[in-house]
Amino acid sequence: MKPLTPLLESNREWAEKVSDKNPQFFETLAQQQAPEYLWIGCSDSRVPANEIVGMLPGELFVHRNVSNLVVHSDMNCLSVIQYAVEVLKVKHIMVVGHYGCGGVQAAIETAPHGLIDNWLRHIRNVYNKHKELLSAWADEPQEHLDRLCELNVIEQAYNVCESTIVQEAWARGQEVNVHGWVYGLSDGLLNDLEFNACSQIEVDDQYRVAIRKIELLRDMMKSDEETDANSARSLWGKLNQLFR
Ligand code: CO
Repeated sequence: MKPLTPLLESNREWAEKVSDKNPQFFETLAQQQAPEYLWIGCSDSRVPANEIVGMLPGELFVHRNVSNLVVHSDMNCLSVIQYAVEVLKVKHIMVVGHYGCGGVQAAIETAPHGLIDNWLRHIRNVYNKHKELLSAWADEPQEHLDRLCELNVIEQAYNVCESTIVQEAWARGQEVNVHGWVYGLSDGLLNDLEFNACSQIEVDDQYRVAIRKIELLRDMMKSDEETDANSARSLWGKLNQLFR
């Protein structure tokens, strides 16, 4: 078997470059990590957590899986959240989906995909829950998918809030803020869905506001004749102005 020489070489170059800039960088990092953020994102290779928010090693604790799901029986994800909250004491947890997510797309296809369909059923549940709202985009497959990507993020952020780990943290007065974002593959920008909960009493309100915004998006789309398949950004821009 051949070693992956190019990757190992570029690793050495990278380590050298970082050390040149800051000779103590790796030594300091090796002692401890103290990230303030936990990123729960999609495994998609086009959504590299650190790069997107301009963060260095040590600044972001990361969990990624197909379609950024937070499932209450997934010991992997829950263990990451527990370590992040109870040991690292991160102040922010962001669930970060992305537009055009293949996992979200596969979840609503009728063709079978094998084992992964069991995982994607969680997204199918999100779809079924919001079927009526989503039906407004029935004739716009791309927009329909993007709205489901947004709804999936809102539901997963809600799940983070409902986890025993975050519930217990809030009960003992620990600061934990939960956010929902969607990343645009075509422009490199994060869209803040403005689900921002930092206490138990805020959760249901934040959920309702976030869903309401997607309902408003639908209403704006219906009243805006110039709307086309690429206008989600401009609709979101208009919508966010209304809230500011
Ligand atoms: Co994805």
